[in-house]
Amino acid sequence: MGDMKIGKIAVIGAGNMGHQISLCCALAGLETTCIDVSEEQLQSAASFVKRYLPERVSRGKLSEEEAAEAEKRLRFTASLEQGAREVDFVIEAVTEKLDLKKDLFRRLDQICPPQAVLATNSSFFVSSLLAPETDRPDRVCNMHFFNPALVMKCVEVVKGVHTSAETAATAMALARSLGKKPVLLHKEIYGFLVNRILRRIMDEALYLLDTGVASAEDIDSAVVNALGHPMGPFTLMDLTGIDLSYHAAMERYRKSGDPADKPSPTVVEKYVKGEWGRKKGSGFYTYEK
Ligand SMILES: NC(=O)c1ccc[n+]([C@@H]2O[C@H](COP(=O)([O-])OP(=O)(O)OC[C@H]3O[C@@H](n4cnc5c(N)ncnc54)[C@H](O)[C@@H]3O)[C@@H](O)[C@H]2O)c1
Repeated sequence: MGDMKIGKIAVIGAGNMGHQISLCCALAGLETTCIDVSEEQLQSAASFVKRYLPERVSRGKLSEEEAAEAEKRLRFTASLEQGAREVDFVIEAVTEKLDLKKDLFRRLDQICPPQAVLATNSSFFVSSLLAPETDRPDRVCNMHFFNPALVMKCVEVVKGVHTSAETAATAMALARSLGKKPVLLHKEIYGFLVNRILRRIMDEALYLLDTGVASAEDIDSAVVNALGHPMGPFTLMDLTGIDLSYHAAMERYRKSGDPADKPSPTVVEKYVKGEWGRKKGSGFYTYEK
């Protein structure tokens, strides 16, 4: 794996991303510890594993033996000291708050063996914000999975100026060993590859809707049937939440001050009306509760 052999891994965070990344690792044969401060999240992650593995067996995707082995390799704990002490690699997937991640990287640097790689799954914080908190900046990088992590093949590995070539190669090799199709970013950039491309598509789709060029249904249909995307941008925004699109645009606008970064009029209207997509029963489309 790169030049470095990865046998033991810790995933920090048992939320949306962490519980599935942990299971990917255990299924790929790694001794995995999933660590979270919340006992409730740990329990919910453990019961997901208890449901998911038998389901895969019953669908013929996994043998009973493989499922039992994976379950044995995956442990859950609230103790960072115990869970991260002997690992070769860490994937941090805690709440998207910079101070929280900085504090965690400081602690991980003290707990983990000196050769261990510390990777962050953050969607927006580049690892150069975290590397200075450690005495091993060469072993710090981004490793960005997509949701749901058990299903989505892409992983973005981002090499900061501080990241060694060996660390980037190790992260790429680890992703491949999980059955993923990793891509390497040779330098840090806000939003990495996928979210930057997605944002352009979303912005253009909203522009075409706001200016009355076409309906949401027809724009979605064109994107699916001409570009071959599995779903159109409005279906996707309904799925991820229009509140999220609103907050992401507001955050960009607050930072840049550029009016072009403001959320589109349709997004503002839907946000104010509470039409946030699937979870609210309506967004660009209407859903049965
Ligand atoms: N949700 C997505 O679609 C998605 C996709 C790719 C990347 N990400 C990134 O993954 C990270 C996690 O996102 P998520 O959606 O899984 O969040 P989440 O809120 O579902 O889970 C975060 C977990 O972190 C735990 N946590 C908080 N502080 C902790 C600490 N000090 N130690 C251990 N655990 C702690 C929380 O208890 C929670 O269970 C974020 O950085 C996010 O940007 C999210």
